[in-house]
Amino acid sequence: MSLEVLDRPKIVTPKLPEEESGEVTTVLPKQSLPRAEFALDPNDHRLYERYQPKLAGHGGEQAVYVVPQFPHQVIKVNFRLLKPLLDQYPVPETPAQEKALLQKLGGEVLGQQAAYERLVSIFGREHLLAERVTKMRLPVTQALVEDVLGESAPNLPDSVVNFPFVVRIQELVPQYILDTGLDMRSGYAENHIDDPLEKESYARGSVRWLSDEPDDTPFDPELFLECQGSTALADLINVAKTEPALKLVIVDFLEKAMEYTRVTGQILDLAGENNVVFFQDEHTQEWDYRLIDASFPDRTKGQIGIATGALENYIDRENLTEIEYMALYNALNYTRTVNGLADAMGMSERINLLHNKHISIDLSVIDWDELRQYLVTQVRGE
Ligand SMILES: Nc1ncnc2c1ncn2[C@@H]1O[C@H](COP(=O)(O)OP(=O)(O)O)[C@@H](O)[C@H]1O
Ligand SMILES: [Mg+2]
Repeated sequence: MSLEVLDRPKIVTPKLPEEESGEVTTVLPKQSLPRAEFALDPNDHRLYERYQPKLAGHGGEQAVYVVPQFPHQVIKVNFRLLKPLLDQYPVPETPAQEKALLQKLGGEVLGQQAAYERLVSIFGREHLLAERVTKMRLPVTQALVEDVLGESAPNLPDSVVNFPFVVRIQELVPQYILDTGLDMRSGYAENHIDDPLEKESYARGSVRWLSDEPDDTPFDPELFLECQGSTALADLINVAKTEPALKLVIVDFLEKAMEYTRVTGQILDLAGENNVVFFQDEHTQEWDYRLIDASFPDRTKGQIGIATGALENYIDRENLTEIEYMALYNALNYTRTVNGLADAMGMSERINLLHNKHISIDLSVIDWDELRQYLVTQVRGE
C-alpha cells in the first residue's frame, strides 16, 4: 500500500538548522500519551513499511506523525473529522460514492486553506509554520479508530481500508522550541475550580477580564491564576516581567489576536498545549512566537458573535443549543486569556465579547458559579 498522494504536496519550508537534517527528531513527549499510542499497524501496511511514520504528538483533534524521508515536516491527521466521514461513507463502493467523498474532502481542504490564509493575513507568515493541506489515502482499521477516539467504527470492515482523507503537511517545529518555549495555554477555567476561594476568584476575574474596558486597579497575578487556573499563563507573565523583549512580542501577539477577532469574528484556539509558543531563537537569542495550532477547529463554534448571543440567551434563561454553549465556553476562556494578558502587559485594548449591534450584556447580573456549573455539565454531557 503506497502513500497515495492525490494532490502532490509541494511545501516551501524555510530551512531548519542543519543539525535537524538526517535523523527524525522525536517530537513531543512533554505530555503523556493517551491510553492508546495512535500507532499504525506495522504488519499490514505498505504505507508503514515505506514511510516508517512515528507518532510525534497529538492533541484533542490531530495525531502528528514524523516520517524519516521528510525530516523537516510533520504529517497531521485530524481524527475528529475522520470519524463522521467514516460513518457517512464507510467504504465508497461506486465511482459516484467515491466522487461524493472526494468532493466533500475538497471542500474541507479549501476551508482549512482559507483558515490558514486568514491567520497569515493578520499574523504574517513569519509567525506561522509553512504548511500544505492535501488529500492522501490513509490505511484505517477499526482498531485504529477505537484506539484514537475510544469509539467504535461499526461501518468499517475488519480489514484495512485505504481511506482518502485530508492531511496537513506542516513544517517541523524544532525540538528546542517545544522543550524550552513558553506555552500560551489558556486551559478551561470552568474545569479546575474546586475550592471556595477559586470560585470567588472565578467570579471576580471573569468580571474584570471579560469586560471590554480596562480597570484602573493594578493587574493581580494571583487572581488571574486562581481564576483561569493556567500555570502556563502565570509562567509567561512571570518571565515577561524580567524580559522586556518577551513582553514586546507578547504585546504584538495580543494586538494581532484582537485584530483577528475583530476582523474575522473568530476566536483563536488557545486552550490546547503548545498551540501558540513563545521562545528564544537558539542562534540569535531573540524572542519570537509561532502559531502551531491556533486556528479554531470549528468555524461556527469559534464565532464570538454566537458566544455573545449565547450569553444573552443564558441570562434570559433560555436553553442553549450545543453550538451556543460550546461557542460560549470557548469564547469565555479565550477572552479572559487575551484580556487578562493584555491587562498584565499594561495594554488598554480589549476583546469585546459583550456588545454588538443588538446586544449589550451587563456582567453584574451573572451568577458565575451557576454559569460555570451549567457549562461544565453541558460540555461533559452530564
Ligand atoms: N509542526 C510540528 N512540529 C513538531 N511537533 C508538533 C507540530 N505540530 C504539533 N506538534 C506536537 O503535537 C501536539 C499536537 O498538535 P496540535 O497541532 O496542537 O494538534 P491538536 O489539533 O490535536 O491540538 C502539539 O502540542 C505539539 O507538541
Ligand atoms: Mg493543539
